[in-house]
Amino acid sequence: MKILVTGGTGYIGSHMVVELLNEGHEVIIIDSLVNSKIEVLNKIQEIAKKTPIFYQENLTDHTALEEIFKNHSFDLVIHFAGLKSVSESVEKPLLYYQNNLASTINLLDCMQNHKIKKIIFSSSATVYGGSNESECIETMPTGQNITNPYGKTKCMIEEILKDVCISDPEFSAIALRYFNPIGNHSSGLIGENPNGIPNNLMPYIMKVAAGELETLSIYGNDYNTPDGTCRRDFIHVVDLAKGHLAAIPALEAPGFKTYNLGTGTPTSVLEMVNTFEKISGRPLPHQFAPRRPGDLAEIWANPSKAERELGWQTKLTIEDAIRDTLTFLENTRKIW
Ligand code: UD1
Repeated sequence: MKILVTGGTGYIGSHMVVELLNEGHEVIIIDSLVNSKIEVLNKIQEIAKKTPIFYQENLTDHTALEEIFKNHSFDLVIHFAGLKSVSESVEKPLLYYQNNLASTINLLDCMQNHKIKKIIFSSSATVYGGSNESECIETMPTGQNITNPYGKTKCMIEEILKDVCISDPEFSAIALRYFNPIGNHSSGLIGENPNGIPNNLMPYIMKVAAGELETLSIYGNDYNTPDGTCRRDFIHVVDLAKGHLAAIPALEAPGFKTYNLGTGTPTSVLEMVNTFEKISGRPLPHQFAPRRPGDLAEIWANPSKAERELGWQTKLTIEDAIRDTLTFLENTRKIW
C-alpha cells in the first residue's frame, strides 16, 4: 500500500516507517523537522534497506499539502505530526491549538478533496483525563479534567474525526491511545533524543545516564501506590508501531474506532530506575522531589479490545526497552 506518514521522522513516526517499509509498503513522509532531524532518514534507510519519499513541509501550509496530495494517491494516512510538550502547551496554548488542530483539519480537508478515506491517528491515554479509574477502557468518558492544552488537542482531534466519520459513511478513522512509549529499535540507530532538558521520564534518565544531567528527580514518593511513586504503563515503541500495523486491516470497516495501546501492566517510576540500574550495571543518581503538578498517581491500559479485535498484544518488556535504550545511547553519546 501507499501510505502517508505525517511526522515520520519523529520518535514514534520513524519506528512506524521502519515497520511499514519492512512489510513492503511504500511510504511518503511529511515532516517539518521542527522536532526531528533529517539524518533520521539515513538511519531508516540503513535499517530497512529502503528509502521513503520525504517532504519537508508544515501541515499548516494547506497549499503545500494539497500539492503533495495531487502527486500521490495514498491508500491511507497515519498522522503523528504534532507538538507534544505538556509544559510548553501550558505556556503557549494558542501555538498548540493552532498547530495541532489546523494541521489535522488541513490534512482531513486534503484527504476529502482526494477521496482518501482512511486515517490512523496518534492519540494518547491523556484523553481519559483525571476523573476515571486507573485502568483505562475505551468505553470510559474522555475529555474531563485534562490538565493541559496538549492533551486537550488530542481529545479535540478525536472529536473532529468522529464528526468526519458521521458526515461521510465511507470514512474510517482509528484513534490509537498510546500509554507511555519508551525504548527504540534494537539497532540503536533511531530513538528519542530531545533537545534541552526533557520533561518525560525515559529521556531524562538517558541524559542522567549520559552524564549530561546530574540527578533524576523522582516527582513524589508519597502517592497511594505500592512504593509511593507514580505508576505508568510503559510500552516499547516497536510494539507500539506494530499496533498500528495491526490496525490497518480494521480500517476496512468505516466509522470511528479507538484502541488502547499499552501492556496492561503498570510499572512504578522507582521500579523503572531500579531496573535501569540493574541492566546497565551502574548507579543512576536520583533523589525524591515534590510531586509534579498535574500528575496522576497511576494509569495503565486495559488492552483487551486491541487484543480481541486487532489480534495485537505487546511482546517486548521494560528490560528490552532499557537494553535498546542503552544501545542507542552508546551510538549517540558517551555513557557516564
Ligand atoms: C505525559 C503526558 C502524556 C504524554 C506523555 C508523553 C499528561 C498527564 N501526561 O505522560 O499525555 O503523552 O507525557 O509525552 O499530560 N517523572 C519523574 N521525573 C522526571 C520525569 C518524569 O519522576 O524527570 C515521573 C512523572 O512524575 C510521572 C512519570 O515519571 O509520574 C512519567 O512521566 P512522563 O514520562 O512525563 O509521562 P506522563 O506524565 O505519564
